[in-house]
Amino acid sequence: MTAGLDPVKLMKQEVGRAAASQVQSGTIVGLGTGSTTAFAIQFLGERLKSGDLKDIKGVPTSFQASVLAKQYGIPLTTLDEIETIHIAIDGADEVDPNKNLIKGGGAAHTREKIVDSLAEQFIVVVDSSKLVDRLGTTFPLPLEVLPLAISPVMKAVEQLGGQPELRMAIKKDGPVITDQGNMILDVKFEAIDNPAELEKILNNIPGVLDNGLFVGVADQILVGEVKDGQATVREF
Ligand code: A5P
Repeated sequence: MTAGLDPVKLMKQEVGRAAASQVQSGTIVGLGTGSTTAFAIQFLGERLKSGDLKDIKGVPTSFQASVLAKQYGIPLTTLDEIETIHIAIDGADEVDPNKNLIKGGGAAHTREKIVDSLAEQFIVVVDSSKLVDRLGTTFPLPLEVLPLAISPVMKAVEQLGGQPELRMAIKKDGPVITDQGNMILDVKFEAIDNPAELEKILNNIPGVLDNGLFVGVADQILVGEVKDGQATVREF
């Protein structure tokens, strides 16, 4: 372990490395979004550069992922050009005991759900702070919403018992605008007892593109932890 490194960053680094080490030559790789996946993308690039890994192509889930892939020399492809995604690596904001997730802290959950759901193997990379007993307890649920529908969607969400808040940008005045040109509502629910049902109900509200509930999508959860000053990775 590198002395002086922030332990959370260290966990993210190690879990990103562990996921990247599972990628095999000649495969199509879904490239997720967020600070943990960024390490996985970096390590994929390093494996390509060293010759340990050959002939992979990435499918990015966001502008962030495509910028990083270009930076680390990972060739990119699109869903129009491929038949399958062999493996996807992506982060999460919450993980419950059934491997269901809340995603969208980076406003990228719509594209992430498309790519991650298509993958034959979807590996989730998180640090231990993301593990929860019940979804929605530490993180509000993100909804990507068409800008013209923000007001009616907020009302519909309130009728379902949620407290929506328009996500505001940092270092830009006004709301966060997604890679698709939409806005994000972060919705606090008292409790999410049935994520599968809530996912469908929310996506049925006109104007909602997708919400951050990922139910039954994850295959493997890699959890980074720091024990006795050492970063370790375990499978959940
Ligand atoms: C992006 O929209 C999110 O789904 C991220 O994957 C999630 O927020 C995890 O990000 P970190 O790895 O930065 O915590």
